[in-house]
Amino acid sequence: MPALASSTTPERSDPEAEPLTLDPDTPTIETLDMGFDEQFVKPEGRPGDVAAQWAAYISVGVFLLTTWIMTLSNNPTSLGLFFFHPILQSLSIAMFTYGILTLQPTSQAKTKAAGLTRHQLAMIALGVPAICLGTLAIVWRKSMSEHPHFTTWHGTIGIISIAWMVVQVALGGASVWFGGRLFGGNPRAKLVWKYHRLSGYLLFPLFLLAAHLGGAWSSWSTANSAFVVRLLAFTVSPIVLLAAILVRVRTSKMQFF
Ligand code: HEM
Repeated sequence: MPALASSTTPERSDPEAEPLTLDPDTPTIETLDMGFDEQFVKPEGRPGDVAAQWAAYISVGVFLLTTWIMTLSNNPTSLGLFFFHPILQSLSIAMFTYGILTLQPTSQAKTKAAGLTRHQLAMIALGVPAICLGTLAIVWRKSMSEHPHFTTWHGTIGIISIAWMVVQVALGGASVWFGGRLFGGNPRAKLVWKYHRLSGYLLFPLFLLAAHLGGAWSSWSTANSAFVVRLLAFTVSPIVLLAAILVRVRTSKMQFF
């Protein structure tokens, strides 16, 4: 029989007290108290959550579709490696959006474990490889044509956010994989996870800012789209997306003191 996970300690109201990687089949003392009904998952939604989720998906959808249509309808075969840049960067932002949305409301062992699996799939299997390849494509293209690198705010903020992302992934992975052994196991590893979450909420807007600068202001974008399209897809949509993500933040998971 698996060991019991205590949820009746004084830390009980702190979601960080429950390990994120807990085996979903492990009964907690609380669920045993309730008569082995741990298979029943309590509702975790808050008023406004569903509306915010819709707002997030619609805004990221507008951003993604516009970027793809702009790229595919403006002589894509002439773009060389640049073709992959807007396509993959916008795809990765859509993946990051899903990866955040899917984990935000989870507060019970079962939903947290399932959410973590979806989060890792969206982030590590799809989002991170896509953004790395998309960045490699533009950096490589510039190197091949001997153009100077990181000469615009878009390029500079873009490369800073990629470097930050590497640390973000390392912190997240090391705090969760192998029971957080890299950080001395739980509960120490769980402290690191808290910083991964906070850092993620700072990094995501930086990605959106990079996408805004590249989509709304780059010479390629301005030459290939109307002002109103850029305004909607690369300014309004990122703002709505960020607001929607922030509306769903659980501040109870963000306590540091
Ligand atoms: C999170 C999203 C994004 C990141 C991290 C990112 C990153 C970068 C980086 C690092 C560079 C500079 C490469 C170099 O100088 O060697 C660059 C260039 C460029 N990107 Fe992005 N990008 C993103 C999204 C976009 C989007 C959505 C578009 C267009 C719709 C775009 C259009 C461009 C263009 C036209 C350039 C070349 C001009 C310049 O350096 O500013 N990017 N990007």
